[in-house]
Amino acid sequence: MIRHAALLALMATAAQAEAPVSGYAFMQPETQALQDDAFANPGMLWVDLGRELWNRPEASGDSCAGCHGGPETLRGVGARYPAWSATEGRVVSLEQQINLCREGRQQAVPLPYGSRELLALSALVMHQSLGLPQAVATDGPAAEAYVRGRDYFETRRGQLNLSCANCHVEQAGSRLRGETISQGQVNGFPIYRQLWQDIGSAGRMIAWCNEAVRATQLEEGSPMAVELELYLRARGNGLAIESPAVRR
Ligand code: HEC
Ligand code: HEC
Repeated sequence: MIRHAALLALMATAAQAEAPVSGYAFMQPETQALQDDAFANPGMLWVDLGRELWNRPEASGDSCAGCHGGPETLRGVGARYPAWSATEGRVVSLEQQINLCREGRQQAVPLPYGSRELLALSALVMHQSLGLPQAVATDGPAAEAYVRGRDYFETRRGQLNLSCANCHVEQAGSRLRGETISQGQVNGFPIYRQLWQDIGSAGRMIAWCNEAVRATQLEEGSPMAVELELYLRARGNGLAIESPAVRR
């Protein structure tokens, strides 16, 4: 009960300042403790696998390490993705940048969305930014993508005719089928979700939410999905990166 009161107080403060609040604040203390303990956090298994893949040479003979050095050289990188790519002429997600390196620089096939390997590499890269403020740029050529992402977030859809904002802005803090609705922030992704007993990308979570309102699914990696992620990240700029976060 004390916890619930604390959460409501936090929400009230957040509403006043319109400050972003991490999904972490909406979790039970046991779930928070699991996330905080690097040895117990199940998501760290994917970070470990990511480290193996980082050092594995592909068809070109190069490993990620061969060009980049240790994964810690990418500290800060995950915190600013999705980002505008001048060479691609569009906003790219971190998963896409990893696949651009694989295809373009390692002569390797792109890893499918949702695959263990892509999740492991993105968990490894995101984990290097642990504790850094999320800092996605929305100026210059990314500005239009941001606006399209925001429009998607605010548009009602599905048989239940609800927008992301209807739940994650207007109903944040309320209960829905055993869950406390959070702000729908993405600073913890990829997340280990206890309900799934698995790690998942922001795309997988969004699919779960769209399913809940019986809306048409967004294809992971499609321009709209990347632009939505850009908006979600920018909306939570300043939140500390928690990857891999643990959620209910
Ligand atoms: C019917 C209400 C509802 C709608 C509409 C909805 N969600 Fe969710 N969403 C939830 C619930 C419930 C959860 C699980 C509890 C939580 O973390 O908020 C969740 C979780 C999330 C999370 C994980 C947050 C974290 O900290 O790990 C993200 C991200 C998210 N939603 C994004 C979206 C986006 C983007 C949309 C629109 C496409 C959307 N949601 C639409 C109810 C909804
Ligand atoms: C042959 C060399 C090479 C290999 C192998 C390689 N990369 Fe890259 N990578 C680059 C170069 C060059 C860039 C662009 C440099 C820049 O943008 O600062 C880059 C950019 C990146 C970025 C974006 C950096 C930023 O600042 O935006 C990420 C993330 C990344 N690589 C991850 C990986 C991963 C993961 C692997 C292994 C699957 C990998 N790379 C393999 C050369 C390589």
